[in-house]
Amino acid sequence: MEEKEISQAVIGRLPRYFRYLGELKDVGVERISSQELSELMKVTASQIRQDFNNFGGFGQQGYGYNVEYLYKEIGKILGLDQTHNFVIIGAGNLGRALGNYMNFERRGFIFRGMFDQNPALVGQDVRGVKVRPMEELEQFVRENDIDIAVLTIPKTSAVEVADKLVHNGIKAIWNFAHVDLNVPEGIQVENVHLSDSLMKLSYNINRYMKENS
Ligand code: NAI
Repeated sequence: MEEKEISQAVIGRLPRYFRYLGELKDVGVERISSQELSELMKVTASQIRQDFNNFGGFGQQGYGYNVEYLYKEIGKILGLDQTHNFVIIGAGNLGRALGNYMNFERRGFIFRGMFDQNPALVGQDVRGVKVRPMEELEQFVRENDIDIAVLTIPKTSAVEVADKLVHNGIKAIWNFAHVDLNVPEGIQVENVHLSDSLMKLSYNINRYMKENS
């Protein structure tokens, strides 16, 4: 399939389609119309059709889409048909919570290593992965085909650690540190700020209260 330039907004919606289709597939649903998917996901059917048209429309014929096919195709677009090795840097509360989350493997993200500068944490076990000292990070990334680094360290050290990762061939950074990283073109960064989502929630609470007072 030939791919054109797809907007980040569309890409941002694909994981949700993927998740819903996975659930439908698991309960044995074979076909679904854009209307039914629209009711389930609470987005308009025309939005769904427009999104899918970016990828050639996924061959909706007769009654709706083939769920399994659509699930697989969206998975391929998201690169989930390949595996990606990842390491976590920062074995504190957040790093451990992510390391302990099993579902990443189901999506092809393989937890390979964990690093921390605190000697008291080195050697500890997080779901079968030993915490290693920072001195081993660069060689580990080079030698273990690591694509993704997860940064769960304070912002004061995130920039320096990101530089090291880039120099050692990392392809992508999943950045939880509260700082913008300046990386060369070609390195993918996805910033995650849970508090942004909470602030959005706060806005919606306020708006609802105002509208209903
Ligand atoms: P934590 O204090 O439990 O863990 C931080 C860990 O990073 C510690 O084990 C520490 O030894 C290690 N560390 C510090 N500097 C390091 C360095 N240069 N190299 C290697 N390891 C280093 O903190 P927590 O709760 O796990 O949060 C981690 C970071 O993530 C914090 O900076 C926090 O602000 C941020 N955070 C971001 C969130 C988000 O939504 N983006 C949510 C929660 C926390």
